[in-house]
Amino acid sequence: MAHQLALLVLLLVSPAAMRAVGAAGACASEKFPAGRTYATCQDLPQLGAALHWTYDRTKFSLSVAFVAAPAGTGGWVAWGLNPTGEGMAGTQALVALKGSSAPTVKTYNITGYVPLGGASTPIAFPATDLAADEGAGGKIRLYGKLQLHKGMKSVNQVWQVGSSVTGGAPDKHAFGAANLASKTKLVLAGKSTAINPAHAPALAPAPAPTAGTPSSAVGGGSDSGASATAAPSPVKSAATAAGVSAPALAVLALAGFLAMV
Ligand SMILES: *[C@@H]1O[C@H](CO)[C@@H](O)[C@H](O)[C@H]1NC(C)=O
Repeated sequence: MAHQLALLVLLLVSPAAMRAVGAAGACASEKFPAGRTYATCQDLPQLGAALHWTYDRTKFSLSVAFVAAPAGTGGWVAWGLNPTGEGMAGTQALVALKGSSAPTVKTYNITGYVPLGGASTPIAFPATDLAADEGAGGKIRLYGKLQLHKGMKSVNQVWQVGSSVTGGAPDKHAFGAANLASKTKLVLAGKSTAINPAHAPALAPAPAPTAGTPSSAVGGGSDSGASATAAPSPVKSAATAAGVSAPALAVLALAGFLAMV
């Protein structure tokens, strides 16, 4: 009991622990190579995957980084949009295949539960800037930019992981509960405050702003800000009222914790 209490106090007092516990999502801690920044990220509900994205609503272009660990070391990860249904059939997919080398990216128009070949097939959303690298913990990070259809605000997304690659093609994935439930809606129109309404009428004729930059700045700030600023204040005021500084409390709690383990 005392042991748990000490740990609890430590967690409450340490701002770093606070952020680790209270952060909006694990995806926010992903460190991408220089030049890859995204306005928004979302921890997807299955397969330990996350999606990072920036949607340019003047060009209907969606830049994404999909992060997931393949089901085996030489496997693959896939993410796609399904404009015609909810499941795998109809998904316009980006697939990063690891196999025995550095991951490469292919596109597949998935028509149903049929084996995919070693070559990309055309997808409904022209895809550019396709790339992949390896992140922490054996994860594959798949990058790409999709040209969506005019006016798209929300679309079904589907993702998957597989354990092996044969002849440059992804082998069949497992059919566990998580594999079958890995789909959700991607809401693209969520960050309406990112665009200044005063500029809206000028958007069509005016030259488009540099892709991604303004919304990156706005989204990045709001993603990390909420939990970090709101949570620690009650702790601080309690400590101040008791006449003990927060750092001093942290040291006391740590000492107490160490004495007990
Ligand atoms: C994807 O496949 C479906 C079914 O065969 C086909 O109707 C559709 O035109 C294909 N999409 C593209 C972009 O080739």
